[in-house]
Amino acid sequence: MNDLISRLETLKSERDAVVLAHYYVDGSVQDAADYVGDSYYLSTIAKNSPHQTILFCGVKFMAESAKILSPEKTVVMPDTMADCPMAHMVSPEYVNNIRESYSDLTVVCYINSTTEIKAVSDVCVTSSNAKKIISATSTKNILFIPDRNLGSYLQGFFPEKNFILPKGCCPVHSDLTTEDLLSIKQNDPETLVLTHPECEPEIVGLSDFVGSTSEIIDFPAHSKANNYIIYTEHGVAHILKQKYPDKTFLFPSPIPVCKDMKLITLEKAVRSLETMASPIEVPESLRKAAQQALIRMHELAG
Ligand code: 13P
Ligand code: SF4
Repeated sequence: MNDLISRLETLKSERDAVVLAHYYVDGSVQDAADYVGDSYYLSTIAKNSPHQTILFCGVKFMAESAKILSPEKTVVMPDTMADCPMAHMVSPEYVNNIRESYSDLTVVCYINSTTEIKAVSDVCVTSSNAKKIISATSTKNILFIPDRNLGSYLQGFFPEKNFILPKGCCPVHSDLTTEDLLSIKQNDPETLVLTHPECEPEIVGLSDFVGSTSEIIDFPAHSKANNYIIYTEHGVAHILKQKYPDKTFLFPSPIPVCKDMKLITLEKAVRSLETMASPIEVPESLRKAAQQALIRMHELAG
């Protein structure tokens, strides 16, 4: 492990590289990264990074977003097969059809979407900035894509708007059930339930706190509770244990594991800086179209 970390350090200076890791990748990769965060934080770091190379330890839409915002940089991923399935759950044709039906419409796309979807959207959001960005929209109709669960959670904050929601969802979060939550609450009502809004509305409704990955990680710092059940991807256990060694964090079953995030290993991270293989490429006309929605997100959320 130490050999891999020292090799990574050498390659970072040779390649003028910064290493970014999402909270859902393996703990060994998080420990080796320069920055660890949620999707919005990492997008901001990537956009402002002075380094020529970005090694993005996350899923494809995250690395593509970095490339869209910084086309002059080389963006590499440890494994380009790491791709969020939800990102592919709506098509540009679906968006274009809805656009034809509504004149007063904003197309809001979750950053967990393909470049092609960003290119036909008005603005991107992440779970940490979506409320702020939707508040800044002036249309009555909001097409929120692709996550129906995040969309329906947000809809609750904007009763004056008409949300159009497709059927997309995160297979990891939407698989979780209320079973563990209910039995834990029955045995110890003091245990707090912290939930990502990609979970089903039934779980969201029974939770003590709903927030983005970073908001979930920050929550115990301001709470007296000692026990928590965490309804999001298991990778966050790594930082939760480091930050709060005296608190207990349980996870529902099946343990929420994103198999795409787990394709990212330290060995592959080192290899990708060694070979610089498969840099992320986005055709220029598509990149320009997709850039608008991401720039708008950074302007409105900043
Ligand atoms: P965050 O925006 O909270 O990082 O979520 C990204 C993600 O993929 C959630 O499943
Ligand atoms: Fe996509 Fe779900 Fe994995 Fe997040 S946890 S990257 S939404 S599949």
